[in-house]
Amino acid sequence: MALAILGGTGKEGQGLALRWARAERDVILGSRDAAKGREIATALNAKLGSERVRGAGNREAAAASPDVVVSTLPDSGHIEILRDIAGELDGKVLVVATIAWPPGPTSEPSAAELARDALDALGRSVRVVAAFQTVSAGTLRKTESEPEDVLICGDDADAREATSALVDEIGLRGVHAGRLKQARIAEAITGALLKINKHYGVKSTGIRITGIDPG
Ligand SMILES: NC(=O)c1ccc[n+]([C@@H]2O[C@H](COP(=O)([O-])OP(=O)(O)OC[C@H]3O[C@@H](n4cnc5c(N)ncnc54)[C@H](OP(=O)(O)O)[C@@H]3O)[C@@H](O)[C@H]2O)c1
Repeated sequence: MALAILGGTGKEGQGLALRWARAERDVILGSRDAAKGREIATALNAKLGSERVRGAGNREAAAASPDVVVSTLPDSGHIEILRDIAGELDGKVLVVATIAWPPGPTSEPSAAELARDALDALGRSVRVVAAFQTVSAGTLRKTESEPEDVLICGDDADAREATSALVDEIGLRGVHAGRLKQARIAEAITGALLKINKHYGVKSTGIRITGIDPG
């Protein structure tokens, strides 16, 4: 099943696209500029040695993704784009990797909550899940990485499960971390990871939750 990544031409989107394509899933990189999307898709396919990735405009990408759409749009533009293509998201799961910037103040809504509120206000039925906030693009680009967890926050159990399956597919472990509001915590942890990266002179720290039977 094809999977669209809005803003998929960026660092996080390309990293996710590489992982899903390696897991033999077809990926559509959404861009504000379809030609840019196609160009980056060609470069990723060359790296992969396959034709799993294609590029398109954000709207076309969302329309071509039947059940789940992933957003790696930056905080600065995500609400505007989501409002613009809301019709293509109706009835689907939207997995938001976007972080409200700067990450941290848990008194402020997360990017995923803002996305949900914007789509609700338009009367669209979109089940929003937050995931990947703590997973660096550098980690995603690696073919092998240390075990790492992905916090999955959302108000709909089926949507969380669908997201968890997509996470498992790319060699990471999805951990249910509560309702969508908890995405504020995931964003705050990312703020801490950025400070840890700086202190230790590294680029791609992540998280692992202990005490869970990996099943
Ligand atoms: N990078 C990481 O390690 C990482 C990790 C976890 C979470 N995140 C979060 O994921 C999101 C994407 O991160 P990123 O590093 O991939 O960002 P990025 O490379 O700066 O941007 C992603 C893509 O978004 C599009 N874009 C840029 N400005 C836009 C605007 N004003 N309106 C609409 N689209 C715009 C661009 O695509 P087009 O020009 O093709 O439209 C760009 O390639 C951010 O919220 C970030 O905090 C990133």
